[in-house]
Amino acid sequence: MPLTSFPPGFVWGAATAAYQVEGAAHEGGRTPSIWDTFCRIPGKVRGGDTGDVATDHYHRFREDVRLMSDIGLGAYRFSVSWPRVQPTGRGPASQRGLDFYRRLVDDLLAHGIQPVLTLYHWDLPQELESAGGWPERGTAQRFADYAHLVGEALGDRVGSWTTLNEPWCSAFLGYAAGVHAPGRTDDAAALRAAHHLSLAHGLGAQALRAVLPRRARISVVLNPNDVRALTGSAADLDARRRIDALSTRIFTGPMLRGAYPDDLLADTAGITDWSFVRDGDLDVIKHPLDWLGINYYTPSVVSAATDNRPSPGPSAYPGAGGVVFHQPPGPRTAMDWTVDPSGLHELLTRFAHEAPGLPLAVSENGAAYDDGRPDGRGVVHDPERIAYLRGHLAAVLRALEDGVDVWGYFVWSLLDNFEWAYGYSKRFGIVYVDYGSLARTPKSSARWYGEVIRTGRLPAAG
Ligand code: FCB
Repeated sequence: MPLTSFPPGFVWGAATAAYQVEGAAHEGGRTPSIWDTFCRIPGKVRGGDTGDVATDHYHRFREDVRLMSDIGLGAYRFSVSWPRVQPTGRGPASQRGLDFYRRLVDDLLAHGIQPVLTLYHWDLPQELESAGGWPERGTAQRFADYAHLVGEALGDRVGSWTTLNEPWCSAFLGYAAGVHAPGRTDDAAALRAAHHLSLAHGLGAQALRAVLPRRARISVVLNPNDVRALTGSAADLDARRRIDALSTRIFTGPMLRGAYPDDLLADTAGITDWSFVRDGDLDVIKHPLDWLGINYYTPSVVSAATDNRPSPGPSAYPGAGGVVFHQPPGPRTAMDWTVDPSGLHELLTRFAHEAPGLPLAVSENGAAYDDGRPDGRGVVHDPERIAYLRGHLAAVLRALEDGVDVWGYFVWSLLDNFEWAYGYSKRFGIVYVDYGSLARTPKSSARWYGEVIRTGRLPAAG
Protein backbone atom coordinates (compact mmCIF):
# COMPACT_ATOMS: atom_id res chain seq x y z
CA MET A 1 0.00 0.00 0.00
CA PRO A 2 1.56 3.33 -0.96
CA LEU A 3 1.75 5.84 1.86
CA THR A 4 -1.06 8.37 1.44
CA SER A 5 -0.49 10.65 4.39
CA PHE A 6 2.44 12.34 6.04
CA PRO A 7 3.44 11.13 9.49
CA PRO A 8 2.08 12.98 12.51
CA GLY A 9 4.59 15.59 13.62
CA PHE A 10 5.86 16.16 10.07
CA VAL A 11 6.92 19.82 9.97
CA TRP A 12 5.39 22.05 7.30
CA GLY A 13 7.23 25.26 6.58
CA ALA A 14 8.07 28.01 4.15
CA ALA A 15 11.43 29.66 3.55
CA THR A 16 12.84 33.08 2.74
CA ALA A 17 16.26 34.74 2.93
CA ALA A 18 17.21 38.08 4.41
CA TYR A 19 18.43 39.93 1.31
CA GLN A 20 15.54 38.62 -0.77
CA VAL A 21 12.76 39.86 1.52
CA GLU A 22 13.86 42.27 4.25
CA GLY A 23 14.59 45.55 2.47
CA ALA A 24 15.47 48.30 5.00
CA ALA A 25 18.94 48.12 3.52
CA HIS A 26 20.09 51.33 5.16
CA GLU A 27 18.24 51.08 8.46
CA GLY A 28 19.19 50.12 11.97
CA GLY A 29 22.91 50.39 11.32
CA ARG A 30 23.01 47.77 8.53
CA THR A 31 26.01 48.14 6.21
CA PRO A 32 26.27 46.94 2.58
CA SER A 33 26.69 43.27 1.81
CA ILE A 34 28.26 41.90 -1.35
CA TRP A 35 24.77 41.80 -2.87
CA ASP A 36 24.21 45.54 -2.31
CA THR A 37 27.46 46.13 -4.15
CA PHE A 38 26.79 43.60 -6.91
CA CYS A 39 23.32 45.00 -7.66
CA ARG A 40 24.95 48.33 -8.46
CA ILE A 41 27.24 46.91 -11.13
CA PRO A 42 25.45 47.65 -14.42
CA GLY A 43 24.23 44.53 -16.19
CA LYS A 44 24.58 42.15 -13.25
CA VAL A 45 20.98 42.11 -12.03
CA ARG A 46 17.97 42.15 -14.35
CA GLY A 47 16.42 45.60 -14.61
CA GLY A 48 19.01 47.05 -12.23
CA ASP A 49 16.85 45.74 -9.36
CA THR A 50 18.22 45.81 -5.80
CA GLY A 51 17.18 44.47 -2.41
CA ASP A 52 16.87 48.00 -0.97
CA VAL A 53 13.14 47.60 -0.37
CA ALA A 54 12.48 43.99 -1.46
CA THR A 55 9.19 42.91 0.18
CA ASP A 56 9.81 45.22 3.17
CA HIS A 57 9.59 42.19 5.48
CA TYR A 58 11.70 44.18 7.97
CA HIS A 59 8.74 46.46 8.60
CA ARG A 60 5.92 44.09 7.67
CA PHE A 61 7.05 40.94 9.45
CA ARG A 62 4.03 40.95 11.75
CA GLU A 63 1.69 40.86 8.78
CA ASP A 64 3.83 38.09 7.27
CA VAL A 65 3.74 36.02 10.45
CA ARG A 66 -0.05 36.43 10.46
CA LEU A 67 -0.15 35.13 6.87
CA MET A 68 1.99 32.15 7.90
CA SER A 69 -0.35 31.46 10.77
CA ASP A 70 -3.42 31.73 8.48
CA ILE A 71 -1.85 29.19 6.10
CA GLY A 72 -1.17 26.94 9.08
CA LEU A 73 2.63 26.79 8.83
CA GLY A 74 4.45 24.99 11.61
CA ALA A 75 7.87 26.44 10.82
CA TYR A 76 9.50 29.45 9.15
CA ARG A 77 12.97 29.14 7.70
CA PHE A 78 14.57 32.60 7.45
CA SER A 79 18.10 33.93 7.38
CA VAL A 80 19.88 36.50 9.48
CA SER A 81 21.55 39.35 7.62
CA TRP A 82 25.19 39.32 8.73
CA PRO A 83 25.75 43.05 7.99
CA ARG A 84 22.64 43.89 10.01
CA VAL A 85 23.83 42.19 13.18
CA GLN A 86 27.60 42.67 12.81
CA PRO A 87 27.93 45.65 10.50
CA THR A 88 31.62 45.45 9.69
CA GLY A 89 31.80 41.68 9.81
CA ARG A 90 33.98 41.96 12.90
CA GLY A 91 33.68 42.99 16.51
CA PRO A 92 30.62 43.38 18.70
CA ALA A 93 27.05 42.71 17.64
CA SER A 94 24.64 45.49 16.81
CA GLN A 95 21.85 45.23 19.38
CA ARG A 96 19.53 47.12 17.02
CA GLY A 97 20.18 44.48 14.38
CA LEU A 98 19.64 41.60 16.78
CA ASP A 99 16.46 43.22 18.10
CA PHE A 100 14.80 42.81 14.71
CA TYR A 101 15.36 39.04 14.88
CA ARG A 102 14.31 38.89 18.55
CA ARG A 103 11.01 40.55 17.62
CA LEU A 104 10.53 38.28 14.60
CA VAL A 105 11.27 35.11 16.57
CA ASP A 106 9.05 36.13 19.49
CA ASP A 107 6.19 36.79 17.10
CA LEU A 108 6.70 33.41 15.42
CA LEU A 109 6.71 31.65 18.78
CA ALA A 110 3.61 33.54 19.87
CA HIS A 111 1.86 32.08 16.79
CA GLY A 112 3.15 28.56 17.44
CA ILE A 113 5.52 28.70 14.46
CA GLN A 114 8.95 27.15 14.91
CA PRO A 115 11.85 29.41 13.83
CA VAL A 116 14.51 27.70 11.69
CA LEU A 117 17.40 30.14 11.44
CA THR A 118 20.04 30.22 8.71
CA LEU A 119 23.15 32.23 9.54
CA TYR A 120 24.43 32.74 6.02
CA HIS A 121 22.26 33.03 2.94
CA TRP A 122 24.82 34.78 0.73
CA ASP A 123 25.01 38.32 2.16
CA LEU A 124 28.66 38.62 3.19
CA PRO A 125 29.45 42.04 4.71
CA GLN A 126 31.15 44.01 1.93
CA GLU A 127 34.04 44.86 4.25
CA LEU A 128 34.95 41.20 4.45
CA GLU A 129 34.85 40.84 0.67
CA SER A 130 37.08 43.90 0.39
CA ALA A 131 39.52 42.06 2.68
CA GLY A 132 39.52 39.09 0.27
CA GLY A 133 36.17 37.39 0.85
CA TRP A 134 35.65 33.63 1.00
CA PRO A 135 38.89 32.75 -0.80
CA GLU A 136 40.62 34.05 2.37
CA ARG A 137 40.87 31.73 5.35
CA GLY A 138 40.21 34.56 7.83
CA THR A 139 36.62 34.85 6.57
CA ALA A 140 35.87 31.42 8.07
CA GLN A 141 37.03 32.64 11.49
CA ARG A 142 34.96 35.81 11.09
CA PHE A 143 31.93 33.60 10.40
CA ALA A 144 32.56 31.59 13.57
CA ASP A 145 32.65 34.82 15.60
CA TYR A 146 29.39 35.93 13.98
CA ALA A 147 27.81 32.52 14.69
CA HIS A 148 28.83 32.89 18.32
CA LEU A 149 27.19 36.34 18.59
CA VAL A 150 23.90 35.22 17.05
CA GLY A 151 23.91 31.95 19.01
CA GLU A 152 24.38 33.84 22.24
CA ALA A 153 21.62 36.32 21.44
CA LEU A 154 18.93 33.96 20.11
CA GLY A 155 19.86 30.56 21.50
CA ASP A 156 17.23 30.81 24.22
CA ARG A 157 14.41 30.98 21.66
CA VAL A 158 15.58 29.36 18.41
CA GLY A 159 15.83 25.57 18.45
CA SER A 160 16.91 24.84 14.88
CA TRP A 161 20.06 26.33 13.34
CA THR A 162 21.65 26.19 9.90
CA THR A 163 25.16 27.47 9.30
CA LEU A 164 25.22 27.99 5.51
CA ASN A 165 22.69 27.91 2.72
CA GLU A 166 23.96 26.33 -0.51
CA PRO A 167 27.69 26.98 -0.20
CA TRP A 168 28.06 25.71 -3.79
CA CYS A 169 26.30 28.85 -5.04
CA SER A 170 28.41 31.13 -2.85
CA ALA A 171 31.65 29.59 -4.09
CA PHE A 172 30.99 28.79 -7.73
CA LEU A 173 28.29 31.22 -8.87
CA GLY A 174 30.02 33.97 -6.86
CA TYR A 175 33.71 33.38 -7.57
CA ALA A 176 33.90 31.18 -10.72
CA ALA A 177 30.92 31.94 -12.98
CA GLY A 178 30.61 35.47 -11.61
CA VAL A 179 26.82 35.52 -11.98
CA HIS A 180 26.24 36.02 -8.26
CA ALA A 181 27.92 38.43 -5.85
CA PRO A 182 30.77 39.22 -5.64
CA GLY A 183 30.95 38.49 -9.39
CA ARG A 184 34.51 37.20 -9.61
CA THR A 185 35.65 34.74 -12.28
CA ASP A 186 38.69 33.04 -10.83
CA ASP A 187 38.60 29.23 -10.71
CA ALA A 188 41.34 28.85 -8.11
CA ALA A 189 39.68 31.45 -5.88
CA ALA A 190 36.37 29.57 -6.19
CA LEU A 191 37.92 26.31 -4.99
CA ARG A 192 39.56 28.14 -2.08
CA ALA A 193 36.19 29.74 -1.34
CA ALA A 194 34.53 26.31 -1.29
CA HIS A 195 37.01 25.06 1.29
CA HIS A 196 36.75 28.15 3.45
CA LEU A 197 32.95 27.99 3.35
CA SER A 198 33.15 24.39 4.56
CA LEU A 199 35.62 25.45 7.23
CA ALA A 200 33.26 28.28 8.21
CA HIS A 201 30.50 25.70 8.56
CA GLY A 202 32.66 23.56 10.85
CA LEU A 203 33.94 26.46 12.95
CA GLY A 204 30.47 27.97 13.04
CA ALA A 205 28.92 24.68 14.18
CA GLN A 206 31.56 24.46 16.95
CA ALA A 207 30.83 28.03 18.02
CA LEU A 208 27.09 27.37 18.07
CA ARG A 209 27.52 24.13 20.04
CA ALA A 210 29.50 26.03 22.65
CA VAL A 211 26.76 28.61 23.29
CA LEU A 212 23.48 26.87 22.44
CA PRO A 213 21.45 24.78 24.84
CA ARG A 214 21.96 21.03 24.40
CA ARG A 215 18.54 20.62 22.77
CA ALA A 216 19.38 22.94 19.85
CA ARG A 217 19.72 21.21 16.48
CA ILE A 218 22.52 22.24 14.12
CA SER A 219 22.51 21.70 10.37
CA VAL A 220 23.82 22.80 7.01
CA VAL A 221 21.72 23.26 3.88
CA LEU A 222 23.13 22.00 0.58
CA ASN A 223 21.85 21.96 -2.99
CA PRO A 224 23.11 18.58 -4.13
CA ASN A 225 22.84 18.21 -7.87
CA ASP A 226 20.82 15.26 -9.14
CA VAL A 227 22.97 14.84 -12.22
CA ARG A 228 22.28 12.24 -14.87
CA ALA A 229 24.37 11.06 -17.83
CA LEU A 230 22.86 11.68 -21.27
CA THR A 231 23.81 8.15 -22.36
CA GLY A 232 25.38 5.14 -20.71
CA SER A 233 28.67 5.66 -22.57
CA ALA A 234 31.82 5.65 -20.46
CA ALA A 235 32.53 9.25 -21.49
CA ASP A 236 29.08 10.48 -20.44
CA LEU A 237 29.25 8.58 -17.16
CA ASP A 238 32.59 10.22 -16.50
CA ALA A 239 31.07 13.64 -17.22
CA ARG A 240 28.40 12.80 -14.64
CA ARG A 241 31.04 11.79 -12.11
CA ARG A 242 32.92 15.08 -12.57
CA ILE A 243 29.86 17.26 -12.07
CA ASP A 244 28.75 15.19 -9.07
CA ALA A 245 32.19 15.75 -7.52
CA LEU A 246 32.24 19.49 -8.26
CA SER A 247 28.72 20.20 -7.13
CA THR A 248 27.88 17.75 -4.38
CA ARG A 249 30.78 15.60 -3.12
CA ILE A 250 33.01 18.69 -2.76
CA PHE A 251 30.83 19.50 0.27
CA THR A 252 29.49 16.14 1.41
CA GLY A 253 32.99 14.61 1.30
CA PRO A 254 34.49 16.86 3.98
CA MET A 255 31.24 17.47 5.88
CA LEU A 256 30.01 13.89 6.16
CA ARG A 257 33.21 11.86 5.80
CA GLY A 258 36.03 14.23 6.69
CA ALA A 259 37.82 13.88 3.33
CA TYR A 260 37.82 15.43 -0.13
CA PRO A 261 37.08 12.88 -2.87
CA ASP A 262 40.27 11.75 -4.67
CA ASP A 263 38.68 12.19 -8.09
CA LEU A 264 37.84 15.83 -7.27
CA LEU A 265 41.45 16.52 -6.27
CA ALA A 266 42.66 14.88 -9.50
CA ASP A 267 40.16 16.73 -11.74
CA THR A 268 41.16 20.11 -10.30
CA ALA A 269 44.92 19.47 -10.05
CA GLY A 270 45.56 21.83 -12.97
CA ILE A 271 43.90 24.68 -11.06
CA THR A 272 45.10 24.25 -7.49
CA ASP A 273 47.18 21.91 -5.36
CA TRP A 274 44.70 22.36 -2.46
CA SER A 275 47.55 23.39 -0.15
CA PHE A 276 45.10 25.79 1.53
CA VAL A 277 43.63 22.75 3.31
CA ARG A 278 45.52 22.73 6.63
CA ASP A 279 46.04 19.94 9.10
CA GLY A 280 42.97 19.59 11.28
CA ASP A 281 40.59 21.42 8.90
CA LEU A 282 38.79 18.25 7.86
CA ASP A 283 38.14 17.23 11.46
CA VAL A 284 36.61 20.65 12.10
CA ILE A 285 34.46 20.45 8.96
CA LYS A 286 33.14 17.00 9.87
CA HIS A 287 31.38 18.45 12.92
CA PRO A 288 28.42 16.21 13.87
CA LEU A 289 25.15 17.37 12.32
CA ASP A 290 21.69 17.01 13.82
CA TRP A 291 20.05 17.25 10.41
CA LEU A 292 20.90 17.94 6.80
CA GLY A 293 18.86 20.29 4.62
CA ILE A 294 18.40 19.47 0.96
CA ASN A 295 17.27 22.14 -1.49
CA TYR A 296 15.94 20.75 -4.74
CA TYR A 297 14.44 22.36 -7.83
CA THR A 298 15.48 20.48 -10.97
CA PRO A 299 17.86 17.75 -12.15
CA SER A 300 20.82 18.12 -14.56
CA VAL A 301 21.74 16.08 -17.62
CA VAL A 302 25.32 16.04 -18.87
CA SER A 303 27.43 14.45 -21.56
CA ALA A 304 31.06 14.54 -22.62
CA ALA A 305 31.86 17.13 -25.28
CA THR A 306 32.30 15.58 -28.70
CA ASP A 307 34.52 18.37 -30.04
CA ASN A 308 37.28 20.49 -28.58
CA ARG A 309 35.51 23.81 -28.69
CA PRO A 310 36.49 25.92 -25.69
CA SER A 311 33.64 26.62 -23.28
CA PRO A 312 31.86 29.90 -24.09
CA GLY A 313 32.87 31.79 -20.96
CA PRO A 314 33.44 31.48 -17.23
CA SER A 315 31.96 28.28 -15.87
CA ALA A 316 30.55 27.31 -12.49
CA TYR A 317 32.42 23.99 -12.77
CA PRO A 318 36.18 24.60 -12.75
CA GLY A 319 37.95 21.44 -13.86
CA ALA A 320 35.02 20.17 -15.93
CA GLY A 321 35.79 21.86 -19.24
CA GLY A 322 34.80 18.86 -21.33
CA VAL A 323 31.27 18.57 -19.97
CA VAL A 324 28.17 19.73 -21.84
CA PHE A 325 24.86 20.44 -20.04
CA HIS A 326 21.55 19.49 -21.70
CA GLN A 327 18.02 20.58 -20.91
CA PRO A 328 16.33 17.61 -19.22
CA PRO A 329 13.05 16.60 -20.87
CA GLY A 330 9.73 17.64 -19.35
CA PRO A 331 7.70 20.75 -18.61
CA ARG A 332 9.59 23.85 -17.48
CA THR A 333 9.04 26.60 -14.96
CA ALA A 334 9.50 30.32 -15.65
CA MET A 335 13.18 29.83 -14.71
CA ASP A 336 13.35 27.32 -17.58
CA TRP A 337 14.01 24.66 -14.97
CA THR A 338 12.63 21.24 -15.87
CA VAL A 339 9.98 19.91 -13.51
CA ASP A 340 11.05 16.42 -12.44
CA PRO A 341 10.11 15.32 -8.92
CA SER A 342 11.99 12.02 -9.31
CA GLY A 343 15.21 13.99 -8.66
CA LEU A 344 14.01 14.85 -5.17
CA HIS A 345 13.25 11.21 -4.38
CA GLU A 346 16.64 10.28 -5.78
CA LEU A 347 18.50 12.76 -3.55
CA LEU A 348 16.58 11.86 -0.39
CA THR A 349 17.27 8.14 -0.83
CA ARG A 350 20.90 8.87 -1.75
CA PHE A 351 21.56 10.74 1.48
CA ALA A 352 19.66 8.20 3.54
CA HIS A 353 22.28 5.73 2.30
CA GLU A 354 25.31 8.02 2.44
CA ALA A 355 24.54 9.42 5.87
CA PRO A 356 22.65 6.72 7.71
CA GLY A 357 20.90 7.97 10.82
CA LEU A 358 21.08 11.63 9.79
CA PRO A 359 17.60 13.18 9.68
CA LEU A 360 16.89 15.09 6.45
CA ALA A 361 14.66 18.04 5.61
CA VAL A 362 13.59 19.40 2.25
CA SER A 363 14.74 22.88 3.16
CA GLU A 364 13.71 24.47 -0.16
CA ASN A 365 11.52 23.36 -3.03
CA GLY A 366 9.19 25.37 -5.23
CA ALA A 367 8.77 27.02 -8.60
CA ALA A 368 8.56 30.36 -10.37
CA TYR A 369 5.71 30.93 -12.77
CA ASP A 370 4.47 34.07 -14.49
CA ASP A 371 1.56 34.57 -12.11
CA GLY A 372 -0.94 37.21 -13.09
CA ARG A 373 -1.98 40.02 -10.77
CA PRO A 374 -4.84 39.36 -8.35
CA ASP A 375 -8.14 39.19 -10.27
CA GLY A 376 -11.27 41.23 -9.51
CA ARG A 377 -11.97 39.00 -6.51
CA GLY A 378 -8.42 39.32 -5.20
CA VAL A 379 -7.44 35.81 -6.27
CA VAL A 380 -4.14 34.77 -7.88
CA HIS A 381 -4.58 31.46 -9.69
CA ASP A 382 -1.38 29.41 -9.87
CA PRO A 383 -2.39 25.89 -10.86
CA GLU A 384 1.09 25.14 -12.26
CA ARG A 385 2.70 25.82 -8.87
CA ILE A 386 0.14 23.59 -7.17
CA ALA A 387 0.99 20.82 -9.66
CA TYR A 388 4.70 21.34 -9.01
CA LEU A 389 4.26 21.15 -5.23
CA ARG A 390 1.95 18.17 -5.46
CA GLY A 391 4.48 16.25 -7.58
CA HIS A 392 7.35 17.00 -5.25
CA LEU A 393 5.39 16.25 -2.09
CA ALA A 394 4.43 12.92 -3.63
CA ALA A 395 8.17 12.29 -4.10
CA VAL A 396 8.72 13.06 -0.41
CA LEU A 397 5.94 10.59 0.46
CA ARG A 398 7.66 7.92 -1.66
CA ALA A 399 10.93 8.58 0.18
CA LEU A 400 9.14 8.27 3.55
CA GLU A 401 7.63 5.04 2.34
CA ASP A 402 11.14 3.82 1.49
CA GLY A 403 12.10 4.46 5.10
CA VAL A 404 13.97 7.76 4.60
CA ASP A 405 13.96 9.95 7.72
CA VAL A 406 12.56 13.27 6.42
CA TRP A 407 11.26 15.48 9.21
CA GLY A 408 10.00 18.47 7.28
CA TYR A 409 9.35 20.32 4.05
CA PHE A 410 9.84 24.03 3.37
CA VAL A 411 8.29 25.58 0.32
CA TRP A 412 10.36 28.20 -1.47
CA SER A 413 9.07 30.74 -0.96
CA LEU A 414 6.57 32.27 1.41
CA LEU A 415 6.57 35.49 -0.62
CA ASP A 416 7.46 36.58 -4.12
CA ASN A 417 10.85 38.18 -3.65
CA PHE A 418 14.19 39.38 -5.03
CA GLU A 419 15.40 36.41 -7.08
CA TRP A 420 19.14 37.31 -7.15
CA ALA A 421 20.41 38.01 -10.68
CA TYR A 422 16.82 37.81 -11.99
CA GLY A 423 15.70 40.67 -9.76
CA TYR A 424 11.94 40.80 -9.25
CA SER A 425 11.16 39.17 -12.59
CA LYS A 426 10.69 35.66 -11.14
CA ARG A 427 7.89 34.97 -8.69
CA PHE A 428 8.41 31.96 -6.40
CA GLY A 429 5.96 32.92 -3.65
CA ILE A 430 2.83 31.15 -2.49
CA VAL A 431 1.89 34.70 -1.52
CA TYR A 432 1.79 37.35 -4.26
CA VAL A 433 3.57 40.64 -3.61
CA ASP A 434 2.58 43.80 -5.47
CA TYR A 435 5.92 45.58 -5.75
CA GLY A 436 4.25 48.99 -5.99
CA SER A 437 2.02 48.88 -2.92
CA LEU A 438 3.82 45.92 -1.25
CA ALA A 439 0.38 44.42 -0.61
CA ARG A 440 0.35 40.66 -0.06
CA THR A 441 -2.24 38.33 -1.61
CA PRO A 442 -2.12 34.60 -0.88
CA LYS A 443 -2.19 32.64 -4.17
CA SER A 444 -4.35 29.55 -4.64
CA SER A 445 -1.21 27.50 -3.88
CA ALA A 446 -1.17 28.98 -0.36
CA ARG A 447 -4.71 27.74 0.19
CA TRP A 448 -3.84 24.37 -1.31
CA TYR A 449 -0.75 24.08 0.90
CA GLY A 450 -2.87 24.99 3.92
CA GLU A 451 -5.18 22.10 3.10
CA VAL A 452 -2.22 19.70 2.84
CA ILE A 453 -1.05 20.92 6.23
CA ARG A 454 -4.48 20.53 7.85
CA THR A 455 -5.13 17.06 6.47
CA GLY A 456 -1.59 15.67 6.21
CA ARG A 457 -2.57 14.39 2.73
CA LEU A 458 -2.27 15.47 -0.87
CA PRO A 459 -5.78 16.38 -2.08
CA ALA A 460 -6.93 14.60 -5.23
CA ALA A 461 -5.86 16.40 -8.42
CA GLY A 462 -8.47 18.50 -10.22
C1 FCB B 1 18.01 28.69 -4.19
C2 FCB B 1 18.29 29.79 -3.18
C3 FCB B 1 17.08 30.64 -2.86
C4 FCB B 1 16.22 30.92 -4.07
C5 FCB B 1 15.94 29.66 -4.83
C6 FCB B 1 15.07 29.85 -6.04
O1 FCB B 1 19.18 28.34 -4.83
O2 FCB B 1 18.77 29.23 -1.98
O3 FCB B 1 17.56 31.82 -2.24
O4 FCB B 1 16.77 31.91 -4.83
O5 FCB B 1 17.14 29.05 -5.22
